[in-house]
Amino acid sequence: MLLINGIIFFTLIAGSDAARVTGKGHEKHKVKMNSVGAQHRLASDLMANYDRTLRPVQNISSVTNITMNPALHSIVCTNEAEESITLLQWFRMIWTDELLRWDPEEYDGIQKLLLPISRIWYPDITILNMIEVNPVLTEDRTYAIIDYDGSVIVSIDQVVTLHCTYEISNFPFDTQNCSFQAGSWMYTSDAVDIYPKLPADLGAYNQHAGWDLISYTTRREAFLYEASEVPFVSVFYDIYMQRKPTYYLTTFVLPSFIITTLSIFGIFSPNSDSGDRNEKVTMGLTTLLTMAVILLIVTDKMPKSSAGMSLLGYYMIMQIVISASAAITAILVMYQQMKWTTKEKVPFWILALTRLQRSNRITSNTNGANAFIGLSQSGDSRMTKLINKDGALQDNKIFLRWSQILTDIRALLGEVASTLHETAADETERQLWQRACRRLDILLMIIFHIMNVTATVCFIMIGYAKLTI
Ligand SMILES: *[C@@H]1O[C@H](CO)[C@@H](O)[C@H](O)[C@H]1NC(C)=O
Ligand SMILES: *[C@@H]1O[C@H](CO)[C@@H](O)[C@H](O)[C@H]1NC(C)=O
Ligand SMILES: *[C@@H]1O[C@H](CO)[C@@H](O)[C@H](O)[C@H]1NC(C)=O
Repeated sequence: MLLINGIIFFTLIAGSDAARVTGKGHEKHKVKMNSVGAQHRLASDLMANYDRTLRPVQNISSVTNITMNPALHSIVCTNEAEESITLLQWFRMIWTDELLRWDPEEYDGIQKLLLPISRIWYPDITILNMIEVNPVLTEDRTYAIIDYDGSVIVSIDQVVTLHCTYEISNFPFDTQNCSFQAGSWMYTSDAVDIYPKLPADLGAYNQHAGWDLISYTTRREAFLYEASEVPFVSVFYDIYMQRKPTYYLTTFVLPSFIITTLSIFGIFSPNSDSGDRNEKVTMGLTTLLTMAVILLIVTDKMPKSSAGMSLLGYYMIMQIVISASAAITAILVMYQQMKWTTKEKVPFWILALTRLQRSNRITSNTNGANAFIGLSQSGDSRMTKLINKDGALQDNKIFLRWSQILTDIRALLGEVASTLHETAADETERQLWQRACRRLDILLMIIFHIMNVTATVCFIMIGYAKLTI
C-alpha cells in the first residue's frame, strides 16, 4: 500500500514537473516569436519616417558629436618609393542619432538593434590623405549597433593606403611618422564635430616584420578653408614607427662588406706577376659592377624625388669608392712594376715606403767583374811587353798568332763576363722590383682593409646611434 502510494506520489511530481517544463518551453517559444515580431515592428517603426540623407537631429542647430576610435589592426606594407603606407584598420565611429530612439518596454525589452549602415545616416568622415580605400565588407553587410537611447556604433573594416612623406636620410635606421587625417568632407564643426577617443586603440594591433610601432597617438585640429566661415574639424592619428634594420644589414651591408673585402684581397694578393695583374683589375671592375647593382636596388626603394642620399646609399658609395681606388692603385703599382723592363731602378720612395734597401751585392759584383777585366787587360799588356822585349824571337810568328788568339779570347771572355754580370744585375733589380711591389701590395691591402672596416663600423655605429629605441 505504502509502495503504491509512493509510486503515485512520484508519478504526480514527475507529471507536474513535465507539465511545468513543457509550459516553460511554450512560453519561451512565444516570447521568441514575439521578439522577432517586436524586432520587425521596431525596425519598421524606426524607419517609417527616416530619411538617411538628413542629419538626424531634432533641432538643426544642434551639433552631432562623433567620437572617433579607429583601431589599428596592422601595417600591411610601406612603399617608400611611392611614399605610401597601407594599413588594415577598424574604422570605428560613435554618435547619437536622435531619431533612432525607442522605449524598450514597448518592444519586448529590445535594447539593441543591428541595422546595415546603408539604411541609416552616417557621417561622411573620410581619411583625407588617403590614396585608396578598400572596405572589406560592403555597406549592406556592415552593421551599425543602435542602442535604444540613440547611440550608434559603426565599425568599418578597411584596407587603406595613405600618403606618407618618408624621411629616408637615416635609412635603414630610420623612424617614420605617418599620420592619417580623418574628417568630415562636407559638414562643418557646427554640424558635425569630431572628437578622438583617448587613448588611441592599439588593442587589436599585430606586429609587422619590418617595423616596430613606437607610438600611436591622436590629436584634434580645426581648419578654416577659403569658402567656410565655420571651421572643419579633423582628427589626426600619428603612426610613429621604426624600421628594423637587421634585414638590410644582412642583405645589403654584409654582402657588400664581404665583396669589398674579397676584392681587396684579390687585387692585392701577393702572388702576382705582371700577367695576373690584368685579371686583378678585371676583378676590381666586377666588384664595382656588383656594388653598383646593390646600390641600384637600394636607390630603387627610395623616393625618386628625395633631396638627400640615405645612410645606406652613402655606405654603398663609400664601398664603391674603396673598391675603385683599390683597383686604380693596383693599376698604378702594375705600371711601376713594369718599369723594370726598361731597366729603371726602383725609385727611392718605393724603397722607403716598403722599408727595403738596395743590397750592396750588386756593386761588389761589378767590382769583381771590373777587376777581372782589368786583370785580363794587364795580362795582355804584360804579354805584349814580354813579346816586345824578346826581339830575338821575331820569326816565331806562330807564337804571335797564338798570343793574338789568346787576347781575342780574353776580350771575348771579358765581354761575356760583363754581359753575365749585367744580366745578374738586371735580375737582382727585377727581384728588388718584385719584392718592393709585393711589400707595396701588402701595405696597400692593409690600408684598404682598414678603410673598409672603418667605413662599415662607422656606418653601423652612426646607424644605431640614430635609433630611438
Ligand atoms: C534650436 O536650438 C537653438 C539653440 O540651441 C534654440 O535657440 C532654438 O529655439 C531651438 N529650436 C527649436 C525648434 O527647438
Ligand atoms: C558635443 O561635445 C561637446 C564637447 O564635448 C559638448 O559641449 C556638447 O554638448 C556635445 N554636444 C552634444 C549634442 O552632445
Ligand atoms: C608626428 O608628426 C605630427 C605632425 O607633424 C606631430 O604632431 C607629432 O608629434 C609627430 N609624432 C612624433 C612621435 O614625433
